[in-house]
Amino acid sequence: MESQTPPPTPEQDVKAYLQAQENKSLLRFITCGSVDDGKSTLIGRLLYEAHLLFDDQLDNLQSDSKAHGTQGDGIDFALLVDGLAAEREQGITIDVAYRYFSTTQRKFIVADTPGHEQYTRNMATAASTADCAILLIDARQGVLTQTRRHAIIASLLGVRSVVLAINKMDLVAYSQDTYDSIVAAFNDFAQNLDFAHCQAIPLSALCGDNITTKSEATPWYKGDALLPYLESVPVVQAQSDEQGKKGFRLPVQSVLRPHADFRGFSGTCVAGQINTGDSVRVLQGSTGNGAGSGATTQIKDILTPHGLTKTAGVGEALTLTFTDEIDASRGNLIVAADDLCEETDQLEAHLLWMSQEAMLPGRSYIFKLATQNAVATLNPVKHKLNINTLEQLPTKTLALNEIGLITLSLNKRIVFEPYEKNRALGSFILIDRISNHTVGAGMINFALRRADNIHWHAAEIDKDTHAAQKGQKPAILWFTGLSGSGKSTIANHLQKKLFADNYHSTILDGDNIRHGLNRDLGFTQADRVENIRRVAEVSRLMLEAGLFTLVSFISPFRAERRLARDLVEAGAFIEIFVDTPLAVAEARDPKGLYKKARKGEIKNFTGLDSPYESPETAEISIDTTALDAEAAAQLIYDYLLRHGYIKK
Ligand code: ADX
Repeated sequence: MESQTPPPTPEQDVKAYLQAQENKSLLRFITCGSVDDGKSTLIGRLLYEAHLLFDDQLDNLQSDSKAHGTQGDGIDFALLVDGLAAEREQGITIDVAYRYFSTTQRKFIVADTPGHEQYTRNMATAASTADCAILLIDARQGVLTQTRRHAIIASLLGVRSVVLAINKMDLVAYSQDTYDSIVAAFNDFAQNLDFAHCQAIPLSALCGDNITTKSEATPWYKGDALLPYLESVPVVQAQSDEQGKKGFRLPVQSVLRPHADFRGFSGTCVAGQINTGDSVRVLQGSTGNGAGSGATTQIKDILTPHGLTKTAGVGEALTLTFTDEIDASRGNLIVAADDLCEETDQLEAHLLWMSQEAMLPGRSYIFKLATQNAVATLNPVKHKLNINTLEQLPTKTLALNEIGLITLSLNKRIVFEPYEKNRALGSFILIDRISNHTVGAGMINFALRRADNIHWHAAEIDKDTHAAQKGQKPAILWFTGLSGSGKSTIANHLQKKLFADNYHSTILDGDNIRHGLNRDLGFTQADRVENIRRVAEVSRLMLEAGLFTLVSFISPFRAERRLARDLVEAGAFIEIFVDTPLAVAEARDPKGLYKKARKGEIKNFTGLDSPYESPETAEISIDTTALDAEAAAQLIYDYLLRHGYIKK
């Protein structure tokens, strides 16, 4: 008698199923294109055709579709994906919607990203973790600027596979000529982009052509339908097993100290694999001194949300404990001891600008890379990309949705890797310091070596020595206010008082410095930012010499006054708001400039056609309608006395 294997028990069935799920590869993809290209319909159709909808979802969809009425009695698949009420009403998608689904071949995470120009930000967010991008094209419209922009962003953000989904083929009678010419136009453009796989597929999301099976309407198309293609396209990101284990990296998100005997370092592993007993090093960026800073130790325990483990890898949330009592804090990076990361405070990167307000070279922004924060000052843009031709165009700044090559300096060293090597440690965002909005996304090319060969020269006679000799505690006295508000006059009075009492000071005045150091600068927003950046640097040097540094510049922007303040230690920067209403300054008009500006002879005049942002955190505010210049100077003098900068 033949021996028979007993049929699997339900428990074994479930186990086998879960095992199979576990072993399936994962493809993360995004859909992008212009508004109305049919992205949501495509995803809805994909889920429907692949039988990935539950019955109750289907019922809802059918009744919703009828109520909504865009497709007559048919199903409106976009309703499945467009979850938000607002977007339904406006007919646009306004956020990134992530869907998870799986077929017998593969698991998928799809990010449906909005097509509107102002939402490039969401598209970039989604692309930064995607393996594959579906670029939707309306067959009637062909390749648009937006298609090219999304292709460039996808390429820059490391997406290596692209599906050119030529949709709405039903509306062009499934014409092969139309398809061919769109493919040719795209290939012509995309040959300079770094895609490993590029497949064009003629589709109709609405009619279901070439979604899960080949359509009879396009007998001339020889490739796969969309779903089979997505099931088979290589996940280029996944490295070979051995390679993938190397180069462990975990940005520390928090330090856990539930009691005195336990100290764990938590974060998500962004590269490599970790085993108990492995040697690791804690890289600290700014507090370290050069590559390889930080202590080396061994991994004692690896904790996951499911308990202890011996081995863990990319994407896992972990808490690590060390065999030695060494310290690590948020923003540090735990890395394999035999495979370190770079550290730098100057780098070159591609930058996608995502704010309505143009980027301003010289302005400082908050810089966030993994769990590290710093302040970045942007240098003038090297070039920007012409989205349609990929040509490099000269420019000083970047406007909304523009992509450029830039260099930037940081106020401290950070730990990073080139974007090409590690997307998590090679990408950063820039945040406006005043509005807190994300304004840019960057991909690091490399660190600028020039920073490595310039060392900070420590003067033997330092600020405190100078100050002690002069018997004063020096500070920068930063006068800000409208032209004609009285800044320079008050500064002059104050200097005379200080001089009379044997204190040492210097005056940096806008009008004077614009004759020399800053004579190349005008009054555009960008030039004013650079004007103040330079003066802030000079005033720091003057402070080092132990001087009261009286700075008298309109300095209309909060961001640059903040930059100047942050260059020196707390207490060494005293902001003085010379608060004179525009009407009063204009009535005084000491140099006749308001009159000229009103006649249109001077452009960008502060208070008239160029903004002035009043201080919110000034140490001293002076109402010049109530105090004359002498009394104002006395008020500041008293402040210095009261706070110990000078003595009686
Ligand atoms: S800032 O805005 O960049 O800080 P800054 O203080 O250097 O300005 O220079 C302001 C001085 O330049 C004014 O006091 C005025 O004499 C002169 N000036 C010439 N054109 C302008 C302008 N368009 N706006 C303001 N000030 C101007």
